[in-house]
Amino acid sequence: MSRQKVNPLRVLFVTSEAFPLIKTGGLADVSGSLPAALREMGHDVRLLIPGYRQVTEKLQNARQLLQIEQLPMVGSVGLLAGEMPGTGVPVMAILAPQLYEREGGPYLDAKGREWLDNPLRFGILSLVAATLGRKDSPLADWIPDIVHVNDWQSGLTPAFMRHSGAPCAKSVLSIHNLAFQGNCAEEWVGKLGLPHHAYHINGLEYYGQLSFLKAGVYYADSITTVSPTYAAEIQTPDFGFGMEGLLTNRSKDIHGILNGIDTNEWNPATDPHLAHPYDENSLDEKIRIKQALQEHLGLTQDADAPLLGMVSRLTHQKGLDLVLECAKPLLADGCQLALLGGGEPMLEHSFWHLALEYPQQVSVNIGYNEPLSHQIMAGADIFLMPSRFEPCGLNQMYGLRYGTPPVVRRPGGLADSVQDTNPASLRDGSANGFVFDLANASELLAAIRHALACYRNKPEWRQIQQNGMHCDLSWKHSAEAYQGVYQSLL
Ligand code: ADP
Ligand code: GLC
Repeated sequence: MSRQKVNPLRVLFVTSEAFPLIKTGGLADVSGSLPAALREMGHDVRLLIPGYRQVTEKLQNARQLLQIEQLPMVGSVGLLAGEMPGTGVPVMAILAPQLYEREGGPYLDAKGREWLDNPLRFGILSLVAATLGRKDSPLADWIPDIVHVNDWQSGLTPAFMRHSGAPCAKSVLSIHNLAFQGNCAEEWVGKLGLPHHAYHINGLEYYGQLSFLKAGVYYADSITTVSPTYAAEIQTPDFGFGMEGLLTNRSKDIHGILNGIDTNEWNPATDPHLAHPYDENSLDEKIRIKQALQEHLGLTQDADAPLLGMVSRLTHQKGLDLVLECAKPLLADGCQLALLGGGEPMLEHSFWHLALEYPQQVSVNIGYNEPLSHQIMAGADIFLMPSRFEPCGLNQMYGLRYGTPPVVRRPGGLADSVQDTNPASLRDGSANGFVFDLANASELLAAIRHALACYRNKPEWRQIQQNGMHCDLSWKHSAEAYQGVYQSLL
């Protein structure tokens, strides 16, 4: 098939996390793989990211590029140029040790509290992005056509560009999660050097605060979000987190583009974290991974016990409290549960309790563990993702790719990627998982029991697994959709 020839574009892709440099969730996966996919299409995409220690340590061929001077509160910052390990995507990291080199995560300290100077840390990320987006950028030999910012952390960029008084690149804001808005006190408007007249309902102000994300939604030339269903949902009060009015006003500029996945990083046939590689024609190997996982996690070695896997941030969004609510009947049915995740202490605690009560059937690992996330994805029989809302969700796609059919609720990208199993979808070959509607434990339990019934019918289960493994989850179509959004602005 011949692709329509398009002019290569220069795109500055601004993000607060990117795999494999630093990751807390799906934004990192997207920032690691979408720029690489766009580069394969011929575009000159470069990443801009804070120079956390993990980033500067892992960047390849790192070299000092330039200093950016006269920034509010911090004076000057350096830019380190390098390449992403694996894909070679060019990266620029902002060197400001006082902002980014700390023990703890990118957004939270070691005790899980937000860094108090986050408005400054990500205000500077946004301002540096806006500076590089100007036609008179200090990086004179690389002036971008598009500045593509992601979530609240770089959401102020379009506002800085608009108020700079200089001609600038076009801006695209991708919303990965409207629940995180970067709202802070009005005083930050002046501290970050933004004009006070812009602190207004038609501008930076959002319910009496400066909002990084609202500023992005207001000023960006185009807005994308990470699934078509979420694009519609965020324009309603149930999912808009207060921004539904503004989003509805901008409706014609909003594009819902389903995330792809990195099909090299997530490939059961080549995954270095798995002792027994497999593909859709050698699914029996998956049982050996399950046995190794049961042994590793201290669960009863029983190939027939259905193993239900979860890898997730532990927050209200992800609905895993519903799993706690229906765990006992599932354990009585002989199921096993394997959880990897971290987040809200109450949820961590409750899962710990369950594991103490059922040590041979429940395994709980609190913390971030890349190899184990792959091993659970491969070794589990069924993947659970009962999210209350889910802009896209990548784990259900990893489950599809690994022959581990997901049980999901219907919102956002879950609806756009998982096809419920029923007689019609089995007949037409689209059945690849199990979908339920209401966020309550009895609906989740019914969906899991439906999955268990199919699991016991081996030929049918094999079909459902293979349907998922055959889905095209790559970036191909979605990267073309981003290209279309960029071109429409130029
Ligand atoms: P979100 O970004 O909302 O957390 P996604 O499903 O889009 O949800 O992406 C989550 C990503 O983070 C996946 O790559 C998942 O494997 C990974 N992940 C989540 N929790 C952990 C953990 N505790 N250890 C390792 N990887 C994790
Ligand atoms: C956010 C969303 C998740 C999405 C990810 C990447 O973290 O919660 O649904 O998959 O961003 O876009």
